[in-house]
Amino acid sequence: MRESAAGSCALLVTTARARFCSAPYHHEVAREIVGEEPVPETRHGLLVVHHSRAGHTEILVEAAVGAARAAVEDSDLPVEALSAFEAGPDEVLRASGVLLATPARFGYMSGALKDFFERIYHPCLERTQGLPYALLVKGDTDTSGAVASVERIATGLAWRRVLPALEVVGEIRPEDLEAAAELGGSLAAGLDTGVF
Ligand SMILES: Cc1cc2nc3c(=O)[nH]c(=O)nc-3n(C[C@H](O)[C@H](O)[C@H](O)COP(=O)(O)O)c2cc1C
Repeated sequence: MRESAAGSCALLVTTARARFCSAPYHHEVAREIVGEEPVPETRHGLLVVHHSRAGHTEILVEAAVGAARAAVEDSDLPVEALSAFEAGPDEVLRASGVLLATPARFGYMSGALKDFFERIYHPCLERTQGLPYALLVKGDTDTSGAVASVERIATGLAWRRVLPALEVVGEIRPEDLEAAAELGGSLAAGLDTGVF
């Protein structure tokens, strides 16, 4: 079902920490992988992690990033947009919030975004709990599986989805671009002001 982000700034602050795997195993593996490196005390900036093969998701991402940058033009909040293949643990660890954008693929997120999660999961598992995130999914018929696939991993990381997922199905309409801009602008403004 399509869900508009317009006018919505609902805080979905959840303390639920449902992990989809056994926590002790993950804690141990994460310690081995990340060692004793300190977690950055001050996180800064919005990180946009996106993938698009045929360009449709990219159109929505451009609207979201443009609005995000416009929303914080008077402040120092950086807005960094990276492809899912480029972004890694370092970028996530220094982000104060993340916007994830993916096309639907076989009822799941894109392989590129899954690759991103596979690379960041253990390095970030113990160090990004509570990280605010938002999600944009573009599909042709049904984006529910893609949304669920991202939310499941984000829940495992104990990230907080702070805005409703934006699902765009079919041809991109002007109102979809407005909703994408609303999503990016609201997320950046919320991070900038400390609302999130
Ligand atoms: C291999 C493949 C699998 C897809 N699976 C889905 C799907 O499960 N649900 C859906 O709504 N659209 C699906 N689509 C359609 C794409 O998500 C849709 O065309 C989208 O706009 C492509 O985004 P992009 O232009 O950013 O790559 C699929 C497309 C391809 C090529």
